[in-house]
Amino acid sequence: MKALFISGSPRKRSNTDYLLEITRSVTGGDFIKLSDYSVNPCNSCRACLKLKECVVKDDMKLIYPMLFESDVIVLGSPVYFNNVSAQMKAFMGQDLVYKG
Ligand SMILES: Cc1cc2nc3c(=O)[nH]c(=O)nc-3n(C[C@H](O)[C@H](O)[C@H](O)COP(=O)(O)O)c2cc1C
Repeated sequence: MKALFISGSPRKRSNTDYLLEITRSVTGGDFIKLSDYSVNPCNSCRACLKLKECVVKDDMKLIYPMLFESDVIVLGSPVYFNNVSAQMKAFMGQDLVYKG
């Protein structure tokens, strides 16, 4: 089983990273921080409805392969204003349906 741990905290050595790493030390797998990538938000262009893929140019092209090679994806985020971080929110709005 291959796991991918994704941190939405922009801080280095953050609490979120620490908690994800504790789990990863048991299960193994890869760890990435969204703040190391450029992930643009969905702009509601709806091109994906026709093309079956997202046309927004960003680093999701680097992240998609990691997602689809993983059996388990673990998301971690700090609470910002009673929500996930902006980095995680942008990631969660990605075109994950059609890429599958
Ligand atoms: C901009 C900002 C907004 C925050 N909003 C909340 C909040 O709404 N509720 C809360 O309990 N903590 C809030 N916090 C505190 C963080 O969730 C907390 O410090 C967290 O441990 C940071 O995680 P990190 O070290 O992984 O970045 C906020 C922190 C920041 C910087």
